[in-house]
Amino acid sequence: METNKIREDFPILKRTMSGKPVVYFDNGATTLKPQPVIDAITNYYTYLGANAHRGDYEMSGQVDDAFEGARKTAQKFLNAKHVEEIVFTSGSSMGLNEIAIMVTRQYLKEGDVILSDESEHASSYLPWLQAGKEKGTKIDFIPLDEEGKITIENFKKVLTDQVKVVALAMVSNVLGFTAPIKEMAKICHERGILLVVDGAQSTPHLPIDVQDLDVDFYVLSAHKMCGPTGVGVMYGKKKYLDELQPVFYGGESNARYNKCGDLILKESPLKFESGTQPIEGVIGMAAAMKYIDSIGKENIHEYEVELKKYFLEQTKDLENLIVYNRNAESGIVTFNMKDKGQLIFAQDVASFLNTQGIAVRSGQHCAKLLPDILQVPATIRASFYFYNTKEEVDRLVAALKEVTLENCVDIFF
Ligand code: ALA
Repeated sequence: METNKIREDFPILKRTMSGKPVVYFDNGATTLKPQPVIDAITNYYTYLGANAHRGDYEMSGQVDDAFEGARKTAQKFLNAKHVEEIVFTSGSSMGLNEIAIMVTRQYLKEGDVILSDESEHASSYLPWLQAGKEKGTKIDFIPLDEEGKITIENFKKVLTDQVKVVALAMVSNVLGFTAPIKEMAKICHERGILLVVDGAQSTPHLPIDVQDLDVDFYVLSAHKMCGPTGVGVMYGKKKYLDELQPVFYGGESNARYNKCGDLILKESPLKFESGTQPIEGVIGMAAAMKYIDSIGKENIHEYEVELKKYFLEQTKDLENLIVYNRNAESGIVTFNMKDKGQLIFAQDVASFLNTQGIAVRSGQHCAKLLPDILQVPATIRASFYFYNTKEEVDRLVAALKEVTLENCVDIFF
């Protein structure tokens, strides 16, 4: 991977933080944007400007082409069978909420079980909890193994006849373990269970083929893969999207309605896209997909894992470092620091790293059931992406060697 050349595509990497060249290791939260994505968004505002699917003039026709072209790009990116299976959303959270509401309303009954697990992000767990309150559905948990992974063995242990949905992330946003989605899909479908996958943390880093994985629903957020914020994809198998009734109603999603209360909706995907969509976002997302494809997901994954291995190698003698996910094959390192036998508050370590120009995330990372499993209130997460370098890892390692209780407290006084 030609990282130095790639870095030239990211203008933000020229900025400083705390007076030092920025080291951006918070890619699990959001990623930086390359120039082709910025250009695609600017191009829409500079030259296109109109709404999509509304006008009969040249400008609006060009927007329609760009907007529906982006849908085809997304179809290809996920290898969806039909373009109608690609619904634009504001991001993974919106997609997961819509799926939980629609599926619960139409397919579930009292006593039905949704399987989740304790490493889930709030957006993969809470929509099912909330949507199920009126129906009386229940959430059970796939036990995590001793490292925090989902295994087929543990999955099978909690499969009962009441399980109707399995809803989980393909890659955990805290520990970075990849769930065995393809095998789980096979088991789910033998038992008539729907598999809903949160792809927020897998799509930016791994090749994704929704047909090969055979997932029923899959969501992604553009901003976690070099695209703009406020836009994402909800993929659903056509047979389900044809049946499901949308959560939102309004302009462009309907074909006809009258004063008697009759309503005829358009077909998927438009029936799920009421109101003006984030057009520049959709166009920017397509540019991001093309950019990521030009680098190659296999290369991205391999490189991130190499950076993580390098970090582990460089810190092997750092006794004050506790890493929680050594064996996760991803670019996520989740850790804590201690000093004099005492755990240092994760946020204090993150604030110290900020003084060194290094951006990481600390806290519970929106996965608030996991601290019970890890038995610590909070962790620090460094999440690498393809534009990071070993030199940047060296800066993190050097900074961690300076972390002491005094240093972390000093920065606040
Ligand atoms: N879900 C994002 C994260 O993991 C915000 O940080």
